[in-house]
Amino acid sequence: METKYLTQTELHTAACLLKEGALVGIPTETVYGLGANGLDEAAVRGIFAAKGRPQDNPLILHIPSADWLQRYCRDIPPAAYALAERFWPGPLTMILPRKACVPDVVTAGLDTVGVRCPDHEVCRQIIRLADVPVAAPSGNRSGKPSPTRVEHMREDMDGRVDAIVDGGPCRVGVESTIIDLTCTPPRLLRPGGITLEQLREVLGQVEIDPAVVRGMKAGEKPRAPGMAYRHYAPEAPVTVVSGAPEKTAAYIAQHAGEQDGVLCFDEYIALFPVQDSRRQVKYLGPSGDKGAQAHNIFDALRAFDHTKVTAIWAQCPDERDIGLAVANRLNKAAGFRIIEV
Ligand code: TXA
Ligand code: MG
Repeated sequence: METKYLTQTELHTAACLLKEGALVGIPTETVYGLGANGLDEAAVRGIFAAKGRPQDNPLILHIPSADWLQRYCRDIPPAAYALAERFWPGPLTMILPRKACVPDVVTAGLDTVGVRCPDHEVCRQIIRLADVPVAAPSGNRSGKPSPTRVEHMREDMDGRVDAIVDGGPCRVGVESTIIDLTCTPPRLLRPGGITLEQLREVLGQVEIDPAVVRGMKAGEKPRAPGMAYRHYAPEAPVTVVSGAPEKTAAYIAQHAGEQDGVLCFDEYIALFPVQDSRRQVKYLGPSGDKGAQAHNIFDALRAFDHTKVTAIWAQCPDERDIGLAVANRLNKAAGFRIIEV
């Protein structure tokens, strides 16, 4: 199929395509999504095919405002409205009991559904114009780093989807935080743009799902099925080096081979001279600016796939604030191969 590239002035076209059952790449503030009408089973099946996504991995429904929650969810606790009031539109997905109108293919047969209201004007306008909830996973081919620029969408989805809307680079750069409100206390299933600290301000106690901080053991199932899969991974194996930035930079400088890839904080550029070496060095951002690191991480991981590196070494922030999301994505890209120094 030929993929149409749409600009921000062609949102009616994007909305009509969605309504008619087409697959459309859409920008959000977190990452680009691969959208389809969330009430159209056949269209949603197309998402799984285009991504090569396992059928047991449910999708998030995107809605333009909190007043659509009741259409697709039941037994909505007051906490959901409190979170929506504070963080929507924004990078927060809530898991709630679903209504029967949500097709099984969206929820992978679960009796819950993930819902989020994105903070991207282009995206919300498309949803409003289409007047349907938009089911959208991240727009990468399954297993790859999520797309945060329209070029990433082109790399992964050209010829596989009907259209891609260019909304510029994504502001946040990592996917939404997922909070499960169907258990007590609420449980963080995936860290993202809304931090654990922010969630606790509204909810009090929040548990962290084990899949956020470690790999799953054989037979163990995380509550967010997607957290079980190898993910965010460039072709070359990644090793995360964790600890104080000066120490991790020094460790990597000592251990990285001449042809390896290095993902480091901006301050350590001088430790990794690239002249006369086939080493590939990408920058995560300043060590003190975790927002910048979140913004850059997927672009940097993807960039290694355009090189010939056979191993990648990465520095990693501490887990406070959005550092938890950055560390989670890096650790998952590394299959939790982490060296503490
Ligand atoms: O920021 C985001 O959330 C992006 C943009 C496009 O909105 N979307 C995104 O979707 O990251 P995806 O499909 O790549 O990741 C959704 C995650 C998966 O790990 C999936 O297993 C989990 O959410 N999930 C979806 N519905 C769920 C449910 N009912 N219960 C538990 N986990 C669920
Ligand atoms: Mg994804």
